Amino acid sequence: MNDRRMKILVIGSGGREHALVWKLAQSPRVTRMWCAPGNAGITGERLCSNGRFVENVLLGAEDLPGLLDYAKTHDADLTVVGPDNPLALGIVDLFQRHGLRIWGPNQQAAQFEASKVFSQAFMEKYHIPTARSGVFADAALARKFAETLEGRCAVKADGLALGKGVLVCQSMPEASQAIEDMLERRIFGDASRRIVIQEYLEGMEISLHALCDGKRCLLFPTAQDHKRANDGDQGLNTGGMGTYCPTPFLDASGLEQVRHTLLDPWLAGCATEGIDYRGILYPGLMLTPSGPKVLEFNARFGDPETQVYLALMENDLLELLEASVEGNLSGVQLRWKSGAAVCVVMASAGYPGSYAKGHVISGLQDLVLRPNLKVFHAGTKAVENGFVTNGGRVLGVTAWGANLEAARQVAYDAIEHIRFPGSHFRRDIGHKALIKSPPQ
Ligand code: AMP
Ligand code: GLY
Repeated sequence: MNDRRMKILVIGSGGREHALVWKLAQSPRVTRMWCAPGNAGITGERLCSNGRFVENVLLGAEDLPGLLDYAKTHDADLTVVGPDNPLALGIVDLFQRHGLRIWGPNQQAAQFEASKVFSQAFMEKYHIPTARSGVFADAALARKFAETLEGRCAVKADGLALGKGVLVCQSMPEASQAIEDMLERRIFGDASRRIVIQEYLEGMEISLHALCDGKRCLLFPTAQDHKRANDGDQGLNTGGMGTYCPTPFLDASGLEQVRHTLLDPWLAGCATEGIDYRGILYPGLMLTPSGPKVLEFNARFGDPETQVYLALMENDLLELLEASVEGNLSGVQLRWKSGAAVCVVMASAGYPGSYAKGHVISGLQDLVLRPNLKVFHAGTKAVENGFVTNGGRVLGVTAWGANLEAARQVAYDAIEHIRFPGSHFRRDIGHKALIKSPPQ
């Protein structure tokens, strides 16, 4: 085993980055860790190797020159990128040009998330199962195509739009409005100069994650996010209100089939196109009656999928990320705790719309020593004697146990103890799995 001591810089500020920091801090090889810009929970983490606190750095995730300078002057041995924007801006290429080690896909590879037009064309070229679709810059042609789908479609801005660039439509008036908003009114600016229109797919939606090293990829168990704000998948689309892992919707042979029909052609396509993909590939999948189909590719860890994955992961995450950077995943085995994990997001009242900040959060201290529980921070701010709310998604209450029901019990019990005015969370995280395979 490699015993090289490492200083790590993590980029990002959400619940995903808190989970990455928490897990990396458990590696005996990490002797110092910074997070830019980090959050109030992240600075509460200590390194297992020496008890030192993780330090927040006042640099935005998109301040590429600032981050490069920081990594250089502080001799960071590895930089770990959480969010999509710096990847799309080419942070990996920049660091590599300066001889620095960084984990995440380069700019060419990050196009799988940064351009829906790119990834749709790639899927069609390499016969990766996806929705029937068209690419449009012209509104009249887009409407014609939407009419062939009777308006039941997903209208997607080509570029990154803060996770909001997808409008799911059920009728022609809705589709027409979405096309007008994106192509004519440019509500997402240049990101919606071109759009992809996909046929509407019915089915169970799940998240796949695969760790890639440029030649091969290791598939994680499946997870499921809950995108709508309210119970029963009602209300507005959010960044994600909760996750659990594993799901009962793809068994081992189902996963093997997905590897065969989806990941193998994806890897072959990358090889043909000269795309050197090192990082996480996170396909959003719809399990349709005619088989699993890709809705979209993300080029990073999901949030809040990361929280449940890392709660169950037994490997040293640092070893995995290094193997991914070095093109060295052959022979690496992913190891997971048995049982299940769940993450329930506590959000501010009004999220994903406008919401107030600065509400005092109470009850967190009592939970620190609870077994099988970790409360990840997302939108919080440290104040004297505690924390206040500072974002839409505030906390990710994450628990694990012998099965999903046990994990849910721990998470929802903890939530009873956490209070802030207007706190909002879904009570049905993991519900679909419990219906499919009721607890014994
Ligand atoms: P995306 O950002 O592409 O994952 O889209 C956001 C959400 O819109 C997804 O999580 C799905 O719930 C929904 N969605 C996207 N594409 C489709 C589609 N073709 N059919 C049905 N729902 C979709
Ligand atoms: N879980 C949703 C996302 O990370 O995009």
